[in-house]
Amino acid sequence: MTEHLNVVDHPLVQHKLSLMREKDTPTAVFRQLLREISQLLAYEVTRGLPMTTKRIDTPICEMDAPVLDGKKLALISILRAGNGLLDGVLELIPSARVGFVGLYRDEETLEPVEYYFKVPEELEDRLVIAVDPMLATGNSSAAAVQRLKEAGAKNIRFLCLLASPEGIENMKKEHPDVPIVTASVDERLNEHGYIVPGLGDAGDRMFGTK
Ligand code: URA
Repeated sequence: MTEHLNVVDHPLVQHKLSLMREKDTPTAVFRQLLREISQLLAYEVTRGLPMTTKRIDTPICEMDAPVLDGKKLALISILRAGNGLLDGVLELIPSARVGFVGLYRDEETLEPVEYYFKVPEELEDRLVIAVDPMLATGNSSAAAVQRLKEAGAKNIRFLCLLASPEGIENMKKEHPDVPIVTASVDERLNEHGYIVPGLGDAGDRMFGTK
């Protein structure tokens, strides 16, 4: 993947995203839509993976069939909203290894602080796909990606549902080597750090919290 930003403007993605944005969409429907969109986005984020061939027998004859090459992918959920994207992607790539990064923002320093980090081994040999639905300021996403690099990851892609222009810029500045796949780049961030027009708090909407 060579482009730094890939906005997936497929009609199904855009239609489902509009339904998710509506404030009266119930939690169960929101979750189902997120699952469906994440599979469509997974299709894009895995584009161009290295392939090899494997000798197989079909009922008719032998053939060299294309299969994915190399170590299994690592999917990394940036907690907690990342888990909503993770589920759908995992359904499409069930053999992927899974890791979690938990960060919170220190109220005084405003810096991201790590509270959980568990990732698959041999990260350096895997394609690592970090998932977080909302790329808002980009501070925690950039910090999570930095942490993955420190753990050895060399080939990282970032998958989100919505991004702000500020978040994209921030990630591009900090991690120009990490391509971003998203369903939309919205207008801006508001003074509370929410994406506008956005869809509100993704974690609250998918888990039914407030
Ligand atoms: N996180 C969210 O869940 N929503 C936003 O709009 C920004 C960050």
